[in-house]
Formats: sequence, structure tokens, C-alpha cells
Amino acid sequence: MPLVHNKVVTIERHIIEQERATHGTGDFSGILRDLSLAFKIIYREVTRAGLVDILGATERQNIQGEIVQKLDDFANEVIYRAMDHGGHLCAMASEENEHIMAIPDHYEKGKYVLLFDPLDGSSNIDVNVTIGTIFSVLRRVTPENTPGTEADFLQPGYKQVAAGYAIYGSSTMLVYTAGKGVYGFTYDPSVGEFLLSHDNIRIPDHGQIYSVNEGNYHKWDPRMRRYIDWAKQDIEGEDKKAYSLRYIGSMVADVHRTLLYGGVFLYPADVKSHKGKLRLLYEANPMSFVIEQAGGKATTGVERVLEVQPERLHQRTPLIVGSPKNVDEVLLLLRDVE
Ligand code: AHG
Ligand code: MN
Ligand code: MN
Repeated sequence: MPLVHNKVVTIERHIIEQERATHGTGDFSGILRDLSLAFKIIYREVTRAGLVDILGATERQNIQGEIVQKLDDFANEVIYRAMDHGGHLCAMASEENEHIMAIPDHYEKGKYVLLFDPLDGSSNIDVNVTIGTIFSVLRRVTPENTPGTEADFLQPGYKQVAAGYAIYGSSTMLVYTAGKGVYGFTYDPSVGEFLLSHDNIRIPDHGQIYSVNEGNYHKWDPRMRRYIDWAKQDIEGEDKKAYSLRYIGSMVADVHRTLLYGGVFLYPADVKSHKGKLRLLYEANPMSFVIEQAGGKATTGVERVLEVQPERLHQRTPLIVGSPKNVDEVLLLLRDVE
């Protein structure tokens, strides 16, 4: 009997092969390789989070005698340090820093900028719930071999050359797109590699799950409330069953589930936050790029997320993202004027 042969493909090999097929310059494989190292280090710390009280204060006390860093700050620094010397980037921007971060003078400046949310869902750390890291790569618009500026970051999401996330859950995964489909890799800690586990991910056309912080219900626009009321109904004759509600409170985990199972994730505007809560550049754009590349849709409720022209680094946006038919259902009820 012939042996069943499953190819084992590491993330590095996958990217190099993709780059070869598209005659890439190697920049992208360099960026992803450096990022995956940062994710492995963050993963190691995240899985030890519960030990911090037992071991941390002694083990992670630095020479100045300062006590354990917050994991968000730690992740932020790990990514910066893994990425500052590769020669591929000319600047970085993080959800955790007010301003863009320069590449140190003595390192080469590359053609790209990196944006990231170092730990998404960080309020869930203490209760052992899935969190993640989100990233986005843009090609610079300022002249080569100079330091990057804010203008390099303030580009609409459709200009992203790559985006994705690491998710630290029951297993750790890295999901990315470089504009040619979406690929998922599961981390095997015993060999220290991300291995291709989800080839060419396609989001289901329609799903039975809606995902939203329904505690905000009374603060929403009435049309948004109407959609949620509709989502919960069994409608005879239309073959519509009540959708299930799933909400983790880590966007990266809620969108990851939406990508694999289908449905819709929403973080709408409300009377208090007129622009919603999520950040356009660090959260909405990269996740929208992934979802679109898998065949899904992402909208602010008014326009395609990836077409929003950013004006500020930390600007927020309402977000409705998921299976194309579910997003259309939301849009229909949002547009339908009484
Ligand atoms: P972060 O941990 O990076 O600050 O992001 C938290 C975000 C996002 O992950 C999640 O979808 C949302 O906050 C949850 O907000 P609510 O608690 O308002 O539901
Ligand atoms: Mn976040
Ligand atoms: Mn964060």
C-alpha cells in the first residue's frame, strides 16, 4: 500500500515559494521570518502568564530592580527589536505608541513600514482566554533610504502588501495574506516552527453566528438594534433560524472564528463612541484584508473598510466583517430607512 505523503511546509518555505512564483525581492519573506520569531517569543511569555505571580517577580526582575513588565509592553518591545535591524523597514507604528517609531540611525532603511497591535484582547490575559498579535505591512511612499514618516502609514487599507495575525489559543497559529489568498500555520513547539495547517482558507459564504458586545445594545443606532433583533429570530417561510451569539472580547479570536466558521463580527459606533472602538490601522485594516482575501466582506456600515483614507495614526472605525452574505444582511437592515 502506498504511504500517504503529507508535505510538511514551514512558514518560511511557504513564503519563499510564493515569492519565487511572483518574482518577489525577498523583502516579504524577511519581514515574515522576523515577525514569526517575535511571535514565538510572545507565545512563550503568554503561556507563562499564569506563572508570573509565582516566578515572575524574581525571574523577570531586571538589573534596575524593576518588576515584571505588562505583557502588552513586552510584546511591543519584542516586535520592535525583532524588526528594527532587518533592513526591510523604514519605520514602525504600534497601537501602544503615540508616535511612529524610527529605525535606529545605524541600521539600513527599507522599502516598507510595519503597523501592529502587539497584544489584542489583552484584558483577557488574566483569565486565560485567547489573545493575539495583529500586523499590517505597507510599501513606503516617501523617498527610499530616508527615515519613514507618518505619510507612509496614512494609506488606505487596499494598499496593504501583507497583513495577518498570530493567535495564542489552545494552539498558536499564524494566519497571513500577501494578497494571494489566506494561509494558516500552526506552531509546533516541539520543533519550534509554524507549519502549514490551513491551506488557502475560504470563509463560508454564510454562517449562523453573530459576534458583538451586546451590552452596548441600548447605545446603538436603532437600525443596528433592528439587525440584532432580526438575527435572533426564527423566521418561518424564509428558512431563517435564530443565529448563535459568540463573543470572546478579543477581536483577533472573534474574527478568526468568523473566518473559519462563517458569520459576522461587529463593533459598531454607538452614542458614546461615534467611531466605534477598534483602530483602523492596527485592527480593522489588517483583519479586513485577511477576510476579503478569504472571500468575505468588511465595511464600516457606510463604505468598504479598505477604502477609508486614514487621517490619523490612531483613528477608530466602526467595523462589520465576515461572510459575504451575513455582511450583506447587516447592510440591508442598516440602509433600510423606516
Ligand atoms: P486591545 O486589547 O488591543 O486594546 O483590543 C481590545 C479590543 C478588541 O480586541 C475587542 O474586540 C474589543 O476591544 C472588545 O471591546 P469591548 O470590551 O468593548 O467589547
Ligand atoms: Mn486590539
Ligand atoms: Mn492591543
